[in-house]
Amino acid sequence: MANKARDLLIVGLRNAHAMERQAQELMERQSERTSDYPEVKQRLLQHLEETRLQMKRLERGLESLGASHSTLKDTALSLGANLATMAHTMAGDEILKNTFANNAFEHYEIAAYKSLLALCQKAGVNLQADLQESLEEEERMAQWIDDHLRAVTLQYLSHEERQAA
Ligand SMILES: [Fe+2]
Repeated sequence: MANKARDLLIVGLRNAHAMERQAQELMERQSERTSDYPEVKQRLLQHLEETRLQMKRLERGLESLGASHSTLKDTALSLGANLATMAHTMAGDEILKNTFANNAFEHYEIAAYKSLLALCQKAGVNLQADLQESLEEEERMAQWIDDHLRAVTLQYLSHEERQAA
């Protein structure tokens, strides 16, 4: 039984790595385009750094289990991320759509790390500290997005009003 949990944990860690790669690509694209929203840009850049560390943690975890991450899977997913950002780029309310998408993405990541923590326990593998740290970073980012949703919307409104004037 522990072996099955270990197998699922390896799959889950690989999926999480691809997920973080996707997050990295999304935030790289977005941070290049959020100069009108310096607070958002700064938080994106901070979370981008955290995301790079999260990928390293996942790589370490996979290595400790004698596995590696799948570059092919990472590439396929990041292509999707780029297409999603491009679609938002063409819309005037890009900042809002990206904020909603990031909100959803952070909650997806939170769920993924909670699931990995459950598998870790069953597999008897000691990756909890790393996974918990990443989980808390995702939770802080999700909270930040939630806390700033109103301000970003009102900022967007005043940009639009200035353009219309
Ligand atoms: Fe994240």
